[in-house]
Formats: sequence, structure tokens, C-alpha cells
Amino acid sequence: MPQSIHKVALIGFMGSGKSSIAPLLASRLDFRLVDIDAEIISRSGLATVSEIFSVHGEKFFRDLETEVASSFAQMSDIVISTGGGIIGRPVNIEQLKRGGGTIVFLRTTFETVTSRISDFSTRPLFRDIERARALFIERQPLYLKYADYVVDTDEKNPQTVCDDIIRKMVGVV
Ligand code: S3P
Repeated sequence: MPQSIHKVALIGFMGSGKSSIAPLLASRLDFRLVDIDAEIISRSGLATVSEIFSVHGEKFFRDLETEVASSFAQMSDIVISTGGGIIGRPVNIEQLKRGGGTIVFLRTTFETVTSRISDFSTRPLFRDIERARALFIERQPLYLKYADYVVDTDEKNPQTVCDDIIRKMVGVV
């Protein structure tokens, strides 16, 4: 792995595979895995993202998301699994990139994400499929803009996606 890789953040829409691929990548790189949603839940004192949204509202969740992204910014040798909305605030991206962080966009089609998500109730922003589709379309340019590498994940298993990420980062495509 190039010496310059000290921190990798996975971004992409809900269902793009971030939380399945992040542990594989962390183990391959011998980095620690950190998960922004998990840390938000732990800091909120509640049990799930859905509960945070329903008790405190989305802004509270987004503020915690920014706070957590910022607290991970100083860390090194980590793989960061993000939530799909991390690209909503440019400051979050600044934090992910701080200290030379590398951002990998796990690209999927909307059909793939809907087929991967089995329990829509766990994702407050995926309860209405047409709204989710609009959000998906709105976010694509942002994921692309912030990504250092784009890796397609449709019809690939997590191990293959992990191999593709590593190949791209070492410059063999
Ligand atoms: C969100 C994605 C979720 C979670 C929250 C908001 C979003 O994470 O952070 O429900 O805005 O896309 P996943 O991408 O891991 O589902």
C-alpha cells in the first residue's frame, strides 16, 4: 500500500455496501474500523438511527454526524464507514480528507440499493421509495465530486469490491 494511505473513508448511498466492505478493507490494510453511524448512536444515548430521527429530528442527527466526523479527523490508520448523507455538509468532507484522508465512493444503481435493503424501517430516509430515488439522484454528483476513487459495486460481492478498492489505491486498475 502506498505510504500516503493513512485513512480511508467509504462514501455512497444507503445500501451501497459501506458497512459490509469497511471491515474487510480495515482488515486488509491492518487499520482500525470506525463507523460514524455507530458512534452517533452511542453518543445519542438512543438505540437506533430511526429513534434519533423520531425523537430529536434530522438536524440533531446531522449535527452529531458532523461532530463525530470531526472527532475522527485527527485519527490515523483507520477505515471510516460513513452514513449516506455525509456529503450533505462540505465541512464533513473537509474532516474526512484532513491529514490526507482518501475518499472512496461505492457506486451503485438505485435498483441495486433497493434490492440490498431488506428492512426499510431502519432507514428513516428510505421509507418512501420515490423520495429515496430523488435523494439518490440529487446526491450522485456530490459523491462523484468528493471521491478520490470510484468503485462500482453492482453484482459484486464485498470481497471483490474490497479487492477493487485496493487495486485502485495502489494504482493498478
Ligand atoms: C442516511 C444514511 C444512513 C444513516 C441515516 C441517514 C442518509 O446510513 O446515516 O439513516 O442520509 O443517507 P447508511 O448509508 O449506512 O444507511
